Amino acid sequence: MAKASVFPADFLWGAATSAYQVEGSPLADGAGPSIWYRFTHTPGLVKSCETGDVACDHYRRYASDVRLMSELRLNAYRFSISWSRVLPEGTGQVNQKGLDFYRRLVDELKGQGIEPVATLFHWDLPAALDDRGGWLNRDAASWFADYAEVMYRALDGDVKIWATLNEPWVVTDGGYLHGALAPGHRNLFETPIASHNLLRAHGAALAAYRATGKHRIGLVVNIEPKYPASECPEDLAATARADAYMNRQYLDPVFRGSYPEEMREIFGIAWPDFPSADFDAIRAPLDFLGLNYYTRSVVCHDETVWPLKAHRVFQPEHTYTETHWEVYPQGLTDTLLWLKERYGPIPLYVTENGAAFYDPPSVGSEVRDPLRVDYFRDHLKAALAALEQGVDLRGYFAWSLLDNFEWSLGYSKRFGIVHVDYKTQARTPKESARYYRRVIETDGRCLAEP
Ligand code: BGC
Repeated sequence: MAKASVFPADFLWGAATSAYQVEGSPLADGAGPSIWYRFTHTPGLVKSCETGDVACDHYRRYASDVRLMSELRLNAYRFSISWSRVLPEGTGQVNQKGLDFYRRLVDELKGQGIEPVATLFHWDLPAALDDRGGWLNRDAASWFADYAEVMYRALDGDVKIWATLNEPWVVTDGGYLHGALAPGHRNLFETPIASHNLLRAHGAALAAYRATGKHRIGLVVNIEPKYPASECPEDLAATARADAYMNRQYLDPVFRGSYPEEMREIFGIAWPDFPSADFDAIRAPLDFLGLNYYTRSVVCHDETVWPLKAHRVFQPEHTYTETHWEVYPQGLTDTLLWLKERYGPIPLYVTENGAAFYDPPSVGSEVRDPLRVDYFRDHLKAALAALEQGVDLRGYFAWSLLDNFEWSLGYSKRFGIVHVDYKTQARTPKESARYYRRVIETDGRCLAEP
């Protein structure tokens, strides 16, 4: 096969955000509260008691944000839809004004020649559905499919790339096992049920799309490749557990129709027997898979860590980001190759990749973020290396377009390629945004420069 020396001409160059992290105005125009509205309004759960009430005010500033994307030469924008803006109760009555916001956003994107990539669920479950059990209720699959259908009917003519869920692992590990994210549960028995219902919801939304949709639909997962700290059997087994829990738990059912065998060992008596018929819907073919890649982990056995009995070993020779994630670009190449090898030649997008670093105070209109420039350069090279080895990679989305609300860490961590002054809402493209624009303008050729 001919070698790809640069990115393909039709490659999608994008940036990503999510509704609760950037929009603000969470209850405007008839929207219902989400679990993140509730979580942030419960004192003590989020750093400095910060909320997404204003965030980046993208709900009102979307048009100028889209112009900014165009100035950065992005040809794609991955955003998520707030379920409770569109269906304030999660099911039933549609809130036309909520739907209109996404229509205006998509129109603006199309007007600038930017491909809209819509994620249906990026963690902000309607609070009304949490009151009915949320992801623990088996009905969640049909609630989600009904909501998805509303969105397909409204936007499928113009949105050609849909993702069902963003990172089901984070939803359940953070929301149901460790409690750091909404809805803040800490329950070993609930966790596999929530995971399974998320996968069933994904399957149901996929089936609804096959019935009416005209374009492409997929799933977005965060994969963190696991490398053993040593070759001793305990470390190898711990690495397999960590990989099963975070990575294969979602992809094996979707591509192979069953959970990894390690799940029962990890969850013990909390691991239920799921009806085998459920897997028929879960494993329906996808048009693409979205990979969110941030870091890797080197794993060793540790009896004291609940429930995995595994922990991450610090790598002193490498750079760490402000969220304590090791910078390891090779892991992106390894993951893309692993996905192809284990699950077949499915089209892939890197739907998120980026880093929080301390950005020094701006000098005039300059925000210099050299560590983030290095991060993007090295990860884009790693993506190119995978393309050259035959991975069907169709696009790359920087996380994130804007500095934004970083969940339980509030506004304390900045991932944006564009700096946001939260007092004035002024946007200032950082050095990394200018670097990314040059990558886009040269189809990646400038990555070869020293
Ligand atoms: C999520 C984003 C989040 C980012 C950085 C991803 O797991 O999809 O919402 O802001 O990581 O933590």
